Amino acid sequence: MTDQPVALPLEKIPQHVAIIMDGNGRWALSRGLPRLAGHKAGTENLRRVIRSTVEFGIPYLTIYAFSTENWGRPPEEVQGLMRILEDVIDRELSELDKEGVQLRHIGRLERLAPSLQEKVLDAVDMTKHNTRLTLNIAFNYGGRDEIVQAIQRIIRDGVPAEDVSDEMVGRYLYTAGVPDPDLIIRTSGELRVSNFLIWQAAYSEWYITPTYWPDFDKEEYRRALETFAQRDRRFGGISEAVANRARNG
Ligand code: FPP
Repeated sequence: MTDQPVALPLEKIPQHVAIIMDGNGRWALSRGLPRLAGHKAGTENLRRVIRSTVEFGIPYLTIYAFSTENWGRPPEEVQGLMRILEDVIDRELSELDKEGVQLRHIGRLERLAPSLQEKVLDAVDMTKHNTRLTLNIAFNYGGRDEIVQAIQRIIRDGVPAEDVSDEMVGRYLYTAGVPDPDLIIRTSGELRVSNFLIWQAAYSEWYITPTYWPDFDKEEYRRALETFAQRDRRFGGISEAVANRARNG
């Protein structure tokens, strides 16, 4: 699977990368193709990016494939995206499983066709013991919806108000057990969060590129990781260098 050595400093490799795969429609439009051709090219690229993620040694990847707002798209595009999810499971599952990828779904399954719901649940069950890469597929996912559901479940469980904490809320989210994303990549240049991992992204670093998703290649992925490696993450505190200077007068 490896085609070139990874020169990035290991301690600076993010544990969790999340991607807003934007720009499929414009990629297609710029070639005079229907929007679905853009989503198909985006799916091909996703396959390459998953492979690169394994090669870079990143253990968690989350991809935004269908938002709770995407139902507002033309019915044939919505149907096309449903079919893509089905095809990805049908065609790629055994290869992903062989490569040690654990599939997880984040979002609401209810509105999907029962046969697709079953496929997703089977894929999650089949790969649940894999440990090389955890791939969260955000499909019919919305960050606010996730938080609302968490609050409802906390109340239903009868948790006393004083026991509600940051860490406890995390356990009620779809991403329970998954570290928060260190790096979020958004393609096609939009400067928006778009309801993606809004709780989990509190201290994530962002890499935003004008490149349309189908053209986001391994070289640019590496550039995103290199940019990340140079960031000084302070999590609301001060950098180590500044702290040392302060300590040493
Ligand atoms: C945003 O581009 C992209 C999406 C809403 C769908 C992303 C889906 C894939 C890349 C396919 C992989 C899917 C699965 C289920 C694994 P856009 O259509 O909003 O682009 P535009 O802003 O240029 O119109």
